[in-house]
Amino acid sequence: MKILFIGDVFGDAGRRVLAEHLPEIKAEFEVDLVIANGENVAGGRGITVNYVKKMKHYGVNVLTGGNHSFAQPEVFEDPKTKEIVLRPANFSCVKRGKGSTVFTLDDGRTVGIVNLMGKVFIEGKIRCPFKEVDEILNTMPECTHLFVDFHAEATSEKVCMAHYLDGRVGAVCGTHTHVQTNDARIFPGGTAFITDAGMTGPEYSAIGMTHEPIIYRILTGEPVKFVQSKEDPMFNGVFIELDDETKRAVKIEPIYRRYQFTAPMEDD
Ligand SMILES: [Fe+2]
Ligand SMILES: [Fe+2]
Repeated sequence: MKILFIGDVFGDAGRRVLAEHLPEIKAEFEVDLVIANGENVAGGRGITVNYVKKMKHYGVNVLTGGNHSFAQPEVFEDPKTKEIVLRPANFSCVKRGKGSTVFTLDDGRTVGIVNLMGKVFIEGKIRCPFKEVDEILNTMPECTHLFVDFHAEATSEKVCMAHYLDGRVGAVCGTHTHVQTNDARIFPGGTAFITDAGMTGPEYSAIGMTHEPIIYRILTGEPVKFVQSKEDPMFNGVFIELDDETKRAVKIEPIYRRYQFTAPMEDD
């Protein structure tokens, strides 16, 4: 099983990278399944029904989420999108949407996909992700493979989750920081791991937004409007190969690519 996991897709630049380059990346790695974190697709804040359709058209099979998922909650109710868009399973007090799914490939293989949110340095009512994942794995139907997107701030919490799930799932990929880490590896039990897959979006930015208003706010404390950057589009993600017999990971390879757009992005 060859899985491409794409780090947080951010705004116009991120969508355009996928529109123009996802087909060639999928072909290069002979990918069976594409999972993308989509919590920032709509200008940094959630993902709309229309953008889910576009992401699917570009080649994404399942979208995971994070702390921005409920900026556009309609995707969790629309019949055309609710089956392929996840939000973290362990949000307390949230009824809409779901935090896990089973995706079935045309050849019959299945991948159970789980989306979790970290608690460390994260505001809001969030249940323990460690207990949550136990409950999900205990009730999920038997799958060929299992994949976890752990959307969390602290590197320590992410690496502990990988230790906790080592040998129980094929891969644990971190998201949320928008900075790709240099620690992709396979744990002794066979679980592939990266602390953060990074961001597919504008590299010349403060994790997606233009840096000037953010620095102004840091210096003055005044509330300011953030503006998405569209400069220096890049692709961040990881390629993961899982053995269909043993379910163990045999490969995890970070992908970092920069692109230049030759024409203005379509206005949608
Ligand atoms: Fe994000
Ligand atoms: Fe996030």
